[in-house]
Amino acid sequence: MQKIKSNIHFGDCLEILATYPDNFFDLIITSPPYADSRANSYGGIKPDDYVAWFLPRAQQMLRVLKPTGTFILNIKEKVVDGERHTYVIELILELRKQGWLWTEEFIWVRLVLA
Ligand SMILES: C[S@@+](CC[C@H](N)C(=O)[O-])C[C@H]1O[C@@H](n2cnc3c(N)ncnc32)[C@H](O)[C@@H]1O
Repeated sequence: MQKIKSNIHFGDCLEILATYPDNFFDLIITSPPYADSRANSYGGIKPDDYVAWFLPRAQQMLRVLKPTGTFILNIKEKVVDGERHTYVIELILELRKQGWLWTEEFIWVRLVLA
């Protein structure tokens, strides 16, 4: 039976991913900061700067993911001045230009039982 090996790395994913070879992973699941929605707990990135912050990291993820691999991005919009900021939509459009295929969307529904 194949042994499962797990490595836990601490650090900026941009630097960590650079240590892995091309076409290495079958699956990448990431839950990056929801812009600066949790700025008080782990910092964050302003919605207007998010796409520029994420794209170099996505480029590394694209490099280390096998061509047959799957990428799952857990992300959430942020309301700014009473409106949903479009950084998630902008990110999807830029990821497609990078070579990613946008194939599916899952909705995370949190039920609050009264
Ligand atoms: C939405 S939270 C997800 C946390 C985790 N999935 C969970 O369920 O607790 C985003 C996480 O990304 C981490 N993070 C922020 N910038 C990062 C970076 N450049 N590289 C790696 N992790 C980062 C934050 O510290 C935070 O823990």
